[in-house]
Amino acid sequence: MKLQVQPKLIIHGGAGSSLQAKGGLETVRRSLHVVIEEVYSLLVTGVSASEAVVRGCQMLEDNPHFNAGTGSVLQSDGQIRMSASLMDGTSRRFSGVINVSRVKNPIEMALFLQNSPDRVLSDFGSAELARELQVPSYNALTDLRLKEWIQEREDNFQRTMAGVVAEPEMAESSNGGRGTIGVVALDGYAKLAAGTSTGGKGFERIGRVSDSAMPAGNYATSYAGVSCTGIGEDIIDECLAAKIVIRVSDGMSLQDAMLRSFTEASKNERDLGAIALDATGAISYGKTSEILLAAYHNGDTIGDTLEWNDQELIGYC
Ligand code: GLY
Repeated sequence: MKLQVQPKLIIHGGAGSSLQAKGGLETVRRSLHVVIEEVYSLLVTGVSASEAVVRGCQMLEDNPHFNAGTGSVLQSDGQIRMSASLMDGTSRRFSGVINVSRVKNPIEMALFLQNSPDRVLSDFGSAELARELQVPSYNALTDLRLKEWIQEREDNFQRTMAGVVAEPEMAESSNGGRGTIGVVALDGYAKLAAGTSTGGKGFERIGRVSDSAMPAGNYATSYAGVSCTGIGEDIIDECLAAKIVIRVSDGMSLQDAMLRSFTEASKNERDLGAIALDATGAISYGKTSEILLAAYHNGDTIGDTLEWNDQELIGYC
């Protein structure tokens, strides 16, 4: 079927404080651009927004630099528990898993749950589902994340969060970050979807629930889609993704909805970021944290926010 509109795509690999490692920026840039190139080429061939979002999330989950899937951070008890969600803007269906362990791609479970009567499963339920689906058992642990956790345990878990990306120097650093991954796509038929996946904050207590599998952290309608990153509690308190999307659905422009929502978040001293697309193809991103690791394809070129450090709360194109 012939494409009706030009597809658009935006992804993120977390938000937080500056990258520590020498060359960290170029490594992250390459990692994000590879995902943008592959997923945008799929959109051009006519895949749906949801399919594109799932593929983008899989690629980011498989990259050990990012805090989702392989390379997820460890919780206070040394275990990895991951959360992911998918929202299809056309069907307005939200699905997800919360604190799932031993699977490679939590976003695939969120995709499966799109067509289930029970669409959000927590730890025990998601483990049962993985068993029913015969998802192979997978160890998402990396040496860097283990080293980071051991260092933190020695310091009695003083840091509020793990590093935004896994970097060799991070274990020696006291500079925290806020890792998550997310993808928002507008397909060639003007349909939107959003997906978000995370290993959580890192070092949290057992049972803590991330924003990434809540509408606060991931939301889409036929008007707009948003994926958030940052401190989950701050995102939940702002109800950020749903707030931006509903403002656009009620008639506000994406730029105004982002500016108003980030102005509020900044006033409330939140530490977070978000990526957004609307049905007209407008792209936006915002942060109150120091950096936002996002990249996008606007139909002509690839851009990213890795060196976007200015005082503006939002960017728009
Ligand atoms: N935004 C990821 C988390 O706080 O779990």
